[in-house]
Parts: sequence; C-alpha cells; structure tokens
Amino acid sequence: MWISRYDDVSTVIMGRRSFLGHRRVWSGKARRPGDPKFQFDYSHFLDRVDKVCLSHKLKDPAWENSRIMKGDLAQILADLRREKGGNIILEGGPRLVQEVLKRRLADDYWFFVMPVVYGKGPRYWGSMKDQNTLKFLELKHGEDGELLLHYEAVR
Ligand SMILES: NC(=O)c1ccc[n+]([C@@H]2O[C@H](COP(=O)([O-])OP(=O)(O)OC[C@H]3O[C@@H](n4cnc5c(N)ncnc54)[C@H](OP(=O)(O)O)[C@@H]3O)[C@@H](O)[C@H]2O)c1
Repeated sequence: MWISRYDDVSTVIMGRRSFLGHRRVWSGKARRPGDPKFQFDYSHFLDRVDKVCLSHKLKDPAWENSRIMKGDLAQILADLRREKGGNIILEGGPRLVQEVLKRRLADDYWFFVMPVVYGKGPRYWGSMKDQNTLKFLELKHGEDGELLLHYEAVR
C-alpha cells in the first residue's frame, strides 16, 4: 500500500533537511543485505524518480536524478507542472507542508492513519484561520489496521 501510491509520481520535492535525511537513510546506497523488501522497493523508487531539493545553501545534491531549486514555492510548483506534468509529491518537512496547507497549493491530500499513538514534534495542521474544505475520494485499508485516505482540495 505504501509503495503503490507512488506508481504515477513524476517528481518528489523535499526541503533541504528532509532531502539530506532521505539521502542518508533511503538512497539505494543506504540499503544493506537483509533489509526488508519494502525498504529496497522504496529506495529503488527514490533513486529513480526526479527529486527536487529546495535550498538556498546546498550546491550539489549528490544523489542521482536530483536538482536544487529555490524561491517562491507556488512559482516552483507552477514551473514543475509546466515542465514535466505528472504527479508531484511533497515529502516534507513539516514547515514546507505547513506552507502548502496555509497557501492551499496542493491539489490532493493523502492522510495516513496508523493504529498507534506515539511521537512528538511539529504538527502538520496548526491553527488555520480560514476553512480549507476537502472532498473525499478514496479509502484504502492496510493489512495491520492502517488507513490511507485520499482527498482533493475544493477550490
Ligand atoms: N516521513 C517522515 O517522517 C518525514 C518526512 C520528511 C521529513 N521529516 C522530518 O522533518 C524534519 C525536517 O523538516 P523541516 O521542516 O525542519 O525542514 P525541511 O523542510 O526538510 O528543510 C527546510 C529547508 O528547506 C529549504 N527551503 C524550504 N523552502 C524553500 C524555498 N522555497 N526555497 C529554497 N529553500 C527552501 C531551506 O533550506 P536552506 O536553509 O538550505 O535554504 C530550509 O532551511 C526532519 O526532522 C525530518 O526527519 C520526516
């Protein structure tokens, strides 16, 4: 379920901190014999897909099929849509997701509900001044009680 949502993804965008974290943990070079198959699947996907690292500081992404972009997020998304098309996903981090939510830049939202309550740190959904209405599209069940909820933005 985790991997199949990536089938039609053309581009993955990450902020610099998330990009560097993903490169360290999820690139094919990070895989070791004995890692579970889903980790290899995700690493193959991430190595292969076009990746955009947002950064003012980083000069060399040092990961295949990657490039660095900077500037206004709405403009970057418009440029990518025009240039490439396909599904463009934002893989984090939280501040970037918050910016997308507040500025209503996303067409689709995928929410994961996991059957555990755990963790700390920043929340994607902080206080929102304006109502942001979503339309339900699809629900997928995982094998262990996890849910994947797919909504689209109503504009
Ligand atoms: N699935 C997951 O659990 C998951 C996924 C992703 C991230 N995370 C976690 O999220 C944390 C990192 O998130 P974060 O919000 O702190 O940082 P982040 O979004 O990953 O990176 C922030 C950096 O992105 C760059 N940036 C953002 N918008 C930009 C723009 N429009 N133009 C140019 N550069 C831009 C800036 O880099 P410069 O300073 O270089 O300009 C900024 O300092 C990590 O702890 C990571 O583990 C978790």
